[in-house]
Amino acid sequence: MLDNAMQYSHQLLTEIVQPGDVVIDATMGNGHDTLFLSELVQSTGRVFSFDVQKAALEQTRALFEHQHQTLINVELIHASHDQIDHYVTEPITGAIFNLGYLPGGDKSIITHPTSTISAVQQSLNQLKIGGRIILVCYYGHPGGQEELQQLLSFVAELDQHHYSCLRYEFINQINNPPILLCIERKK
Ligand SMILES: C[S@@+](CC[C@H](N)C(=O)[O-])C[C@H]1O[C@@H](n2cnc3c(N)ncnc32)[C@H](O)[C@@H]1O
Repeated sequence: MLDNAMQYSHQLLTEIVQPGDVVIDATMGNGHDTLFLSELVQSTGRVFSFDVQKAALEQTRALFEHQHQTLINVELIHASHDQIDHYVTEPITGAIFNLGYLPGGDKSIITHPTSTISAVQQSLNQLKIGGRIILVCYYGHPGGQEELQQLLSFVAELDQHHYSCLRYEFINQINNPPILLCIERKK
């Protein structure tokens, strides 16, 4: 069976992230991507996770506790991802963005195009050759289409000599399934 966007995002990161690497979860939410990344980079690596909602940090701490996982290699940061360059100064192998609102949380708190694109640009500035930035774009909510269109324009204009940009989506499914974009740095 074909991977859905979430499964494929993890596949794309599993292929390139090694123990000891530094990575970013730009939208921590309930912590599932943070947990996944923390397992990939292991105790010698580092995960920087961002969210504007305190509830996300609480949910993530609870998830790690529930899974008996330590947060030793994780930095939970209560800040917008457009502050990435204030917190992450070392080269990164990967970053993941899950755009939209916190599932089970406040649906009025959503990601916005200007800060999302600024965060993607800041992640690109830190990205190692061969590294990947994954954007899982949910766009069924108010404001979602606008963010998707602005991101698509931004990603489509990246120089093909430096980046390979992929769009992965199911075109025959109802209810706006997420669209995955992947930016890989070539050189
Ligand atoms: C779709 S959810 C993320 C789901 C998460 N990856 C998970 O595994 O549960 C989107 C999250 O982005 C957060 N968010 C919204 N604006 C943000 C911003 N400017 N910086 C960081 N996080 C933001 C929301 O609070 C929400 O928790």
